[in-house]
Amino acid sequence: MERLVCVNCGAAYKADDILYNCTKCGHLLEVRYNLDEITVSKKAWQKRPLSVWRYRELLPVHIEPVTLQEGGTPLYHLRRLGDEMGLKNLYAKHEGMNPSGSFKDRGMTVGVSMALQLKMKSVACASTGNTSASLAVYAAKAGIPAVVLLPAGKVALGKVAQALMHGARVISIRGNFDRALEMVHELCLSHGLYLLNSINPYRLEGQKTIGFEAVDQLGGVPDRFVLPVGNAGNISAVYKGLLELKELGFIGSLPMMTGIQAVGSSPVVRAIHENLPEVIPELHPETVATAIRIGAPVNAEKALVAIRKTGGCAESVTDEEILRTQRDLARKEGIGVEPASAASVAGVQKLVESGAIDRSERIVCVVTGHLLKDPDTVIRQCEPPTEIDADLPSLLSALRL
Ligand code: F0G
Repeated sequence: MERLVCVNCGAAYKADDILYNCTKCGHLLEVRYNLDEITVSKKAWQKRPLSVWRYRELLPVHIEPVTLQEGGTPLYHLRRLGDEMGLKNLYAKHEGMNPSGSFKDRGMTVGVSMALQLKMKSVACASTGNTSASLAVYAAKAGIPAVVLLPAGKVALGKVAQALMHGARVISIRGNFDRALEMVHELCLSHGLYLLNSINPYRLEGQKTIGFEAVDQLGGVPDRFVLPVGNAGNISAVYKGLLELKELGFIGSLPMMTGIQAVGSSPVVRAIHENLPEVIPELHPETVATAIRIGAPVNAEKALVAIRKTGGCAESVTDEEILRTQRDLARKEGIGVEPASAASVAGVQKLVESGAIDRSERIVCVVTGHLLKDPDTVIRQCEPPTEIDADLPSLLSALRL
């Protein structure tokens, strides 16, 4: 049976305690399993379909899960972009191919299932967009109400559309994501809604399966895992999962965990570069990649450990670099992602150029959300369609034929 354990003081709590922080020291909690008691072989896993639930022995859900067949996302070999960077083994795990179009579905299938397991009646989150879309989808599937708080005017169109259409109660606050998270946290504590931001240790359990799948798809551990970092939950989750696989003896090494942020919103990068014990929050984060427009990442404490313990690194990329890479992925690889997702690949390019990445490495970039999430940012970068009269000469002239 699993427990919740404080990552700072080691205090342990029962798995069914509704807790988001350690009540003794206030630090983050994580789910710990008795790995000695887990009886599953790699072979048994490989017989099941590639999905979050392939790995159910390492997940905390003991009821029929709330699922929409999340996970099992493609791992693409980036041949052309890899060639341009001098990397033979550059891969992208396309998390935009999940049911709601982002990796958040891995967390929400587990998180919303846990809400039911813990007999919670309603769920809530703050979000830069994708978490709210995913929560709305899974709450709809579960048949329970969801409340989502968004930073007004800073959430991409597709994500708001999803949250609304799937029936969440959508509230826009005149403040940024960090403030929205504080508010929803207080609301959940005072009114008993189940908080499904990544401060919830159960949600991260679902997200760790990105790492499990990538190892299964590659047939081994990559040298490096590169993720865009916002609230720093995903990089922490992937690290935790791979650590568990190592403790189970399923893998022999860990990848260098590498986090990429936008220049205008990069407290984790700063903490790594300046070797700070903790992040210094940025009060006014700004970037075109609104998904990762976060100044005070709640999971920074876990993410710094993940990066440092694996000999990984962190880098920031400009909005221009993010958008150029978004176009490159779309036009040279056929992979449509939203800006935040392109940050991981843009970061690799920068780290190769600076010599921090060795060209012989096998690298998995997580591209986290689908291109259609943020159509406005796409349209702004492209020439509008050419409108012509409905006759062949006009067509030939438009095509200069
Ligand atoms: N990429 C995308 C597309 C995201 O939506 C997010 C986070 C991240 C990367 C960063 O992941 O927070 O685990 O470090 N989006 C959250 C949201 C904050 O509300 O949708 P992280």
